[in-house]
Amino acid sequence: MRLTYTSDVWYKNAVVYCLDVETFKDGDGDGVGDFRGLTQQIDYLSRLGVTCLWLMPFFPTPNRDDGYDITDFYTVDPRLGTLGDFVEFMRTAHDRGMRVIADLVVNHTSDQHPWFVEARSSRDSPLRDWYVWSDTPEPDDPSQIVFPDKEDSVWEYDEGSGQYYLHSFYRHQPDLNVGNPEVRDEIARILGFWMELGLSGFRVDAVPFLIENVEPRLAEPHEFLADLRAFLTRRKGGSVLLGEVNVPYEDLLPYFGEGLGDQLTMCFDFIGMQNAWLAMARADATPLARALRERPKPPQDCQWAMFLRNHDELTLDKLTEEEQQEIFEAFGPREDMQIYGRGLRRRLPTMLGGDLRRIKMAYSLLFSLPGTPVIFYGEEIGMGENLDAEGRMAVRIPMQWSETGGFTQGEPVREVPEGSFAPDRVNVADQKRDPDSLLRWFQLLIERYRESPELAWGDCTVLDSGHRSVLAHRCDADGATVVVVHNLCDTAVDVSLALEGLAGCHLTDLLVDGTLRVSGDDTVEVPLGPHGSRWFRASAPDVPPEDASVKSR
Ligand code: GLC
Repeated sequence: MRLTYTSDVWYKNAVVYCLDVETFKDGDGDGVGDFRGLTQQIDYLSRLGVTCLWLMPFFPTPNRDDGYDITDFYTVDPRLGTLGDFVEFMRTAHDRGMRVIADLVVNHTSDQHPWFVEARSSRDSPLRDWYVWSDTPEPDDPSQIVFPDKEDSVWEYDEGSGQYYLHSFYRHQPDLNVGNPEVRDEIARILGFWMELGLSGFRVDAVPFLIENVEPRLAEPHEFLADLRAFLTRRKGGSVLLGEVNVPYEDLLPYFGEGLGDQLTMCFDFIGMQNAWLAMARADATPLARALRERPKPPQDCQWAMFLRNHDELTLDKLTEEEQQEIFEAFGPREDMQIYGRGLRRRLPTMLGGDLRRIKMAYSLLFSLPGTPVIFYGEEIGMGENLDAEGRMAVRIPMQWSETGGFTQGEPVREVPEGSFAPDRVNVADQKRDPDSLLRWFQLLIERYRESPELAWGDCTVLDSGHRSVLAHRCDADGATVVVVHNLCDTAVDVSLALEGLAGCHLTDLLVDGTLRVSGDDTVEVPLGPHGSRWFRASAPDVPPEDASVKSR
């Protein structure tokens, strides 16, 4: 596929912005965010450069897992608005050229979902087989317990009907049984419903659990993903499934559909993310460089989704215990900053000690790594966390629009942080007026990233920078090249890079002013400040560098 067709594979260089309607903006003053409030802020998101919104679950819920426990898949939680409000929001987002995807949480339902209420009512219930039951469950493997602070088994005994039901997550989230064709049909109907209302796809929750924990076991668990993808494509070409698949690289390719790419369109790069944190903790790019080199190439039309922080704990589960400890020491030494023994419940800016230079470098890295960047609301202004909130809720705080908060006219549903990350110190309104703010940096990064699709989906080569603290890589596509260099340590460094095939070329800095020249023997000296980041576009010796800063398509 040539870069000319970027709009066909729009997700390959999208800017995905994850938000929770509940905490983004309250439009009616009841203290809870809603679709009307979100709709008012669409222009903010579009000016930031967001091209795709990912909505966390907005369906009716008892809210015991922040909406990941659903009681009705076919409407909007009344606290967040009505289906009418949803459609008005969709229309506004589309008018500003933004696509919308939503969380698809069908590994389980809430135990209050009418399906489960019916299924547990009797062993003869027509919906009994919509869930997974056992008289004699296998003993638990402790490494399979996702929330070890609250659960010690994935089976719960149901007194009423005298059997155990499976719950991969909390006990109030019984697993749906996709081994049952009726359940698979119903899931397709859910997809179809929201597609008809304009969605461009889904972020698929907990994918490995969804296809593996079923009864009877599916002969070909991946066939179900392929069926979903085929269904989606029949309904609307170009729609995506973005999968939460936290497995080692060697097990991941089947989720894309091996060579076919006919299952998930994108998968989050959990391994790259964890190694990026290890690299930052050590001020040594080696772990990240290794991950990028080892990462399998997704099939054509598929893509990696890159992130540094998401709405959950910052999981470090794929690192060794020693590596986890290094990261804890560097970025979350206190016990109340850690969670489940394998992660952190802080946002990025607090972990980096509020050091703006370092924070800017981290996000420059995110936007330049090969893949599609996914950001969590509030990252663009450097919001912190509220450690007084329970568990993962620490990072799910109300969006900080102004000095006084600006999230609601009423009493906010959740508390904002105090101290140096409180709304009077960190907010959108102030940063809009400040040319050196993180918000402005995000806008610049996004503008340059969108102008340089080579970054997201060109051929990426990690270069030898000669300095452990420096990650250098180049992205080539269609004869165009972007070279990117990041310094993970707090002292200035000059690196010498060998750039094959670029002898005599100009390197035009895309972030600040400046041009470098590659020597006749392919090398270039790049000066980097402490936590410095530089993005360059290469242009032939006879092209004036100023014409090369934007590659027109
Ligand atoms: C996923 C979500 C998480 C949720 C869990 C159960 O891991 O990211 O927030 O609690 O699934 O649905």
